[in-house]
Amino acid sequence: MSDVLEEMERLIEEIRRHDRLYYEEDAPEISDAEYDALLQRLRALEAAHPELARPDSPTRRVPGRPAEGFRKLRHGAPMLSLDNAFDEGDFREFCARIRRFLALPEATPLDFVAEPKIDGLSVNLLYEDGRFLRGATRGDGLEGEDVTANLLTIAELPRQLPPPFPARIEIRGEVYMTRADFLAFRAQQEAAAAEREARRARGEKLGPPVQVPVNARNAAAGSLRQLDPAVTASRPLRLLAYAMGEASEAPAETHHGFLERLRAWGFPVNPLSQRLSDAEAAAFQARMAAERPQLPYDIDGVVYKLDRLDWQARLGFVGRAPRWAIAWKFPPERAWTRLIAIEIQVGRTGALTPRAVMEPVFVGGVTVTHATLHNEEEIARKDIRIGDMVILQRAGDVIPQIIGVVPELRPAGAQPYVFRTTCPACGSHAVRAGDDVVRRCTGGLTCPAQRVERLKHFVSRRAMDIEGLGEERIALLHAKGWVTSPADLFRLHRHRAELEALEGWGPQSVAKLLEAIERARHPPLERFIFALGIRRIGEQNAKLLARHYRSVEAWQERMLAARTPGSEAREELCSIQGIGPAIAQELIEFFAEPRNLETLSALLAEVQPRPVEIPAAESPLAGKAVVFTGTLATLSRQEAEARAEAVGARVTKSVSRKTDYVIVGSDAGSKAAKAAELGIPILTEAEFRAMAGLPPLP
Ligand code: IVH
Repeated sequence: MSDVLEEMERLIEEIRRHDRLYYEEDAPEISDAEYDALLQRLRALEAAHPELARPDSPTRRVPGRPAEGFRKLRHGAPMLSLDNAFDEGDFREFCARIRRFLALPEATPLDFVAEPKIDGLSVNLLYEDGRFLRGATRGDGLEGEDVTANLLTIAELPRQLPPPFPARIEIRGEVYMTRADFLAFRAQQEAAAAEREARRARGEKLGPPVQVPVNARNAAAGSLRQLDPAVTASRPLRLLAYAMGEASEAPAETHHGFLERLRAWGFPVNPLSQRLSDAEAAAFQARMAAERPQLPYDIDGVVYKLDRLDWQARLGFVGRAPRWAIAWKFPPERAWTRLIAIEIQVGRTGALTPRAVMEPVFVGGVTVTHATLHNEEEIARKDIRIGDMVILQRAGDVIPQIIGVVPELRPAGAQPYVFRTTCPACGSHAVRAGDDVVRRCTGGLTCPAQRVERLKHFVSRRAMDIEGLGEERIALLHAKGWVTSPADLFRLHRHRAELEALEGWGPQSVAKLLEAIERARHPPLERFIFALGIRRIGEQNAKLLARHYRSVEAWQERMLAARTPGSEAREELCSIQGIGPAIAQELIEFFAEPRNLETLSALLAEVQPRPVEIPAAESPLAGKAVVFTGTLATLSRQEAEARAEAVGARVTKSVSRKTDYVIVGSDAGSKAAKAAELGIPILTEAEFRAMAGLPPLP
């Protein structure tokens, strides 16, 4: 008996050690199959001697594990991205939008702060009572990874701010590597990788794998996301601060004033940052482009931020980007290379997308082998042929593009490219409807490629956010027949044993996956709608729909009703601000297809999307449907609508019985008349301002 007990103890200790190596140190010593065997043996002993089984045995562990990698941290205020400008026209348009939104006269100069846009990774640093408390990567913008220990290895990061400071403030900035540091670091990693290969050739013991970074951004990101802070400490990371997240009180009235505060607090702030008027931006842009090669770090453009913080607050955000800032990118780098082949990929909605396969070429900071060719029209227009020398362009983080060919270098006998008319995945006809430039597979849900793509979209981070399901795994689950529609994912636990037996999966990773699936059963409504992958329903439109219909039941019911032309539900759908006729049409078509309805109801048997909550700050407009008409004196239409939405109102375009208020400005037309006719309460601009919590008119 004591032998058995001893063996069990030994097994438990052994399993715990491998858990630690796998989860905490990222350095497993045994394969999943070997790990499995240990667990199996322990299970067998416990089954034979239940009286000896320990309550804390690894066999009883709830699936999943406590700490894997980094803890998640929620940002106080979301971390956003920036819209891009590529030329002066884009920048002017950006300024014009600001003036329109703020209802400023056309010639009003706008003051900006221009900051070189460094290519690193952004971090959020929380200070309480002046002390650095913790820091996170950007993650999905709402939640990042807790990299506090690693940030503390960066000497430039202030641990304690000198007073005065707000009680609580989030400072945002970029962690980056200088070009010289990157080159030295890469050389060191290359040498280590070569040494490892040599050891492998000699059959010697290998240490952990060595990563050779492709560019400075990649090197900085890899270094900050090391599980062992000692490794991060050995990497030459730098910091530049440039923005603010949540703050208990405003530290300045302008952005340049805020940068001054940052300097006073001891943060490194880019000395090239400069205040300027919109008329001076183009000259600054040209100067930075000229200085770019001499700068000690890589930049891919200049960020222009409106200087007045009160204006920033009024302008707010659209989608994931602020209306008050823009990244004006430098013209992308170009290179020549040879086109070897054209692959055709099948997308989620059946679109056949050609992709170029090329001889590797270094452009825009990375080695490129693939580029998108968009569609067949594009190939024909540029007369791109296999074997051609092509001109490739890559800007920052965007997908490389082929902008043309070098006709002089075309090989003799190269033939014009003929686009296939069948789906490479299922063989169905692939057709172009009307004047659509895209050729689509007609296989619908019978096409395996479309199904796999839809599943990939469904689980993706911005949709249902189910971790641990990459492309290969989804394709495998689909091929096995275990997951052919989204609802199947939530029944995947029925295949646990088969999953665990798969090559390269193992009980730990299966448990992890099943747990991630369980966690996804109550998504926010907008993510759920987005996850369905309806054509034209991106994140933004999904959000509009979720905010309008509020619950999945209401949404589904109204969508089904909207299939009837002329119905009230159809009118309601078309009146949602931001939902145009093409989008409405896609929704109607989606809900008219019985197979989609089956998929949806099977899914709703497994998943309960969370309804949209009305903002807590109870405005009398919260939950109300409002229509604006005429010109307001103090607010642009856009600002008025944004404000109404911010206090929980739904803005619609046309007046109907469902409208709660009509806000009337000067020169109001038929909408005001219709409101009067239907007896809908009418608000003046002053009344609206009061109800929306805006300061009264002067
Ligand atoms: S401000 C709402 N300022 O660019 C403002 N971002 O595309 C958000 N970046 O994730 C960011 N230099 O990683 C800002 N001076 C700068 C920046 C900068 C680089 C990066 C940052 C951010 C991305 C946005």
